[in-house]
Amino acid sequence: MKLAFIGIGKVGFALANNLQQKGHEIIIAHNDIQSESVVKAREKNPAFSALPIQEAITASDIVFLATPFKVAETVVQSLDFEGKTLIDCTNPVGLGISHGLESKISGAEKVQEWSTTARVVKAYTIYGFENLENASFPNYTIKPVMLIAGNDNVAKARVAKLNTDLGFETLDTGELSQALHLEHMTLLWVKMVRVNGHHPHFTWAYLER
Ligand SMILES: NC(=O)c1ccc[n+]([C@@H]2O[C@H](COP(=O)([O-])OP(=O)(O)OC[C@H]3O[C@@H](n4cnc5c(N)ncnc54)[C@H](OP(=O)(O)O)[C@@H]3O)[C@@H](O)[C@H]2O)c1
Repeated sequence: MKLAFIGIGKVGFALANNLQQKGHEIIIAHNDIQSESVVKAREKNPAFSALPIQEAITASDIVFLATPFKVAETVVQSLDFEGKTLIDCTNPVGLGISHGLESKISGAEKVQEWSTTARVVKAYTIYGFENLENASFPNYTIKPVMLIAGNDNVAKARVAKLNTDLGFETLDTGELSQALHLEHMTLLWVKMVRVNGHHPHFTWAYLER
């Protein structure tokens, strides 16, 4: 599939590079071809192409939003997503690793509000980028789980397919408002790893009986 990335920093590059190695075509959706992350990403993986953001959206099947949350509104508000799946990888993080929107509403719902022509799915936020660049755990028979949320089942099925390609099992947590709880899971993971010293390659798993 053709995948456009708005934001190709730690998270964007980790996902794009992993998915390119799994056979997907990556288009960096940029507003400055000379920006540090765009130049670096193309040096590290010359198979990536690059187009201005709107052109990249039109040329792609699925779009990833992997910018800082604070710039997301400005970046997406004038774009036409043409009904495509927009994967919200952003996290609104506030002072002291708190929820940046005071836990009143998820960042993903705000992204959906700002990009009315997109079908937003929250994914790839509950771990650090380390688990996005490589999600294989060869010593285990069980796969790491990726929790997702969104209002559109077709869009979620497309994200589930990407999860499979990356090596994740998908757990659909329900409608987009569930993203608020996923964003709290992010804060939990970040606090555990970045502050309390847990290993950055630890993930959650889904067991059921
Ligand atoms: N780091 C993690 O482990 C992690 C894990 C899960 C989710 N997240 C979330 O994922 C998002 C990205 O995090 P990151 O760590 O990848 O950040 P990062 O390394 O700083 O990368 C941010 C990317 O966004 C681009 N960007 C910044 N402002 C922009 C604008 N106004 N217009 C277009 N592009 C812009 C940057 O491009 P330039 O080179 O031009 O600045 C860069 O490509 C954040 O919302 C973060 O909370 C992070």
